[in-house]
Amino acid sequence: MKRALTRIINWGHELLAEVLEPGDLAVDLTAGNGHDTLMLQRLVGDGGRVISFDVQEQALQATERRLRDSGAAVRRLDAATARSAEPGVILVAASHAELDRYVAAEPKGIVANLGFLPGGDRSLITRPETTLTALAKSCELLAPGGRMAVVVYPGHSGGKEEAEQVDAFFRSLPEQTFSVLCLRVSNRCGAPYLQVAEKNCRSEVPQQQSAKSVPE
Ligand SMILES: C[S@@+](CC[C@H](N)C(=O)[O-])C[C@H]1O[C@@H](n2cnc3c(N)ncnc32)[C@H](O)[C@@H]1O
Repeated sequence: MKRALTRIINWGHELLAEVLEPGDLAVDLTAGNGHDTLMLQRLVGDGGRVISFDVQEQALQATERRLRDSGAAVRRLDAATARSAEPGVILVAASHAELDRYVAAEPKGIVANLGFLPGGDRSLITRPETTLTALAKSCELLAPGGRMAVVVYPGHSGGKEEAEQVDAFFRSLPEQTFSVLCLRVSNRCGAPYLQVAEKNCRSEVPQQQSAKSVPE
């Protein structure tokens, strides 16, 4: 099916769909209205797990409704129970900066959609301090071969500062461990864009390194 070329969220979903399989663990760092959580739940299926974070009750309720309407099993859990391996969607009322308290296994897919809650309070935005902590912890936890897709919004007040720090974070990821892709709409100023990091499989050797190891 042909998709709108510049609908950047869709590209994030496509890239996660390439790595997520039924039964996998996935994480949504910003549940919001639940669109991304639902996408992850569909990919991992009823036998998989999705752990979704948000700091706003309005967002958690919207996500819970969306998932229940789709027929998925949804629970609200604390740190101790979120770490258990039961399948379903687990909604966590906490900052994504606390990710490692709630996620014990290695997620195969992680998504974050930064900025404010559409239809909510536009002054409640994701902040660089917590976003960067969450991204760093996500990179640690990510399963080999797994991907983290982050939609960045430079257009709102405070968005540009966060975008600069997020870009610097992705640029700093070592190429021995991560492959990093940035996807942008080139001709629209302030448009959201996508940063994706894939954790290389342990057996993968970067091309430059393997070329050097061949005797001349
Ligand atoms: C753009 S919305 C997310 C959209 C969502 N992924 C969807 O599919 O509808 C951003 C969300 O990030 C949440 N947020 C802001 N700071 C956060 C934090 N420190 N931890 C977790 N969520 C946070 C906001 O409450 C808001 O709901």
